[in-house]
Amino acid sequence: MRQAGRYMPEYRRIRERHGLLEMFKTPEIAAEVTLQPIRALAVDAAIIFADILLPLEAMGLDLEFVEGEGPILRSPVRSRADAEALRIPDPEESLGYVLESLRLVRKEVDGKVPLIGFAGAPFTLAGYAIEGGGSRSFTLTKRLMYEHREAWEALMGKITEAVTAFLLKQAGAGAQAVQLFDSWVGCLSPADYRRYVQPYSRSIFRRLAQEGIPAIHFGTATGDLLPLMSAAGGDVIGADWRIWIDDAWSRAGSDRAIQGNLDPALLLAPWPVVEESAGEILERVQGRSGHIFNLGHGILPQTPVDTLRRLADFVHERTGDSHQCP
Ligand code: CP3
Repeated sequence: MRQAGRYMPEYRRIRERHGLLEMFKTPEIAAEVTLQPIRALAVDAAIIFADILLPLEAMGLDLEFVEGEGPILRSPVRSRADAEALRIPDPEESLGYVLESLRLVRKEVDGKVPLIGFAGAPFTLAGYAIEGGGSRSFTLTKRLMYEHREAWEALMGKITEAVTAFLLKQAGAGAQAVQLFDSWVGCLSPADYRRYVQPYSRSIFRRLAQEGIPAIHFGTATGDLLPLMSAAGGDVIGADWRIWIDDAWSRAGSDRAIQGNLDPALLLAPWPVVEESAGEILERVQGRSGHIFNLGHGILPQTPVDTLRRLADFVHERTGDSHQCP
């Protein structure tokens, strides 16, 4: 999950001096920022500091992170011709900085915590490419999907190819597992997920499985999509907080591991409230193996570091895992 970021004073100090894209593209900075939460919290894995939107830039879209507005993609994809004009990037050439960040971090964390690489899933990336940024309803995306099937297939096909190549290279550069972020796929009906999205995500997971690369499949608001997402693939299935974790697990299937499902907003509450909710998740899971305690989505910038520290320690104490913050 998004682990590095503005909630950390040491992150803000670096961020004051550098633009976000510059941070992603400077492996020494990206590596340092990846390591910040590893030093501060007893988390059990590192996730590389990069962004799901970087491959869209490599494919030819103009990406910008605008202060206070989030990501913007100028000249979005609105037609088959736009989709066909996109490049399938060679990851070494145009995303080599992420691969280099992975190599640097792996050297630092090797033997301590595993390193996770990631990419955006085809639907979520297509959504940004079509909307030109974030969206509440993904109306333009759905419209193109329903009305211009060939444009949709061209775009999804290209993104799938780009993401597959990128994830394979990330594993080669030191990522020991990879996470596919389908953050906004919960806006779709199960029927539309199955028709317009599942084949593409499935193709990515199939390729990863062939290479023996452990994979995490993440989304939010995915309650009724979980069986279909699980069928698309992933050794670990993510669940947000809108569903009981044991219910999510039975929907995903008992042959998968599950991660989630604390509401990140809970971490703004006083510690006893956090402790109670985290404890409830652990009780519902009942110590079953294959549970990864996690938030249901990324850490909010207002989150107190001390709450996160206590949470990681609390989970380790309760589960009998001895990993404590160094
Ligand atoms: O924890 C980590 O260090 C991993 C790095 C990471 C980032 N983005 C860095 C980042 C990861 C895994 C992501 C994934 C990502 N990026 C997703 C999928 C995960 C999710 O949250 O659903 C999405 C949808 C994006 C797109 C994106 N990038 C948005 C919407 C924003 C603006 C968010 C905001 O809160 O303002 C970003 C910027 C971004 N990417 C930040 C970070 C740490 C905020 C950084 C800052 O402004 O300093």
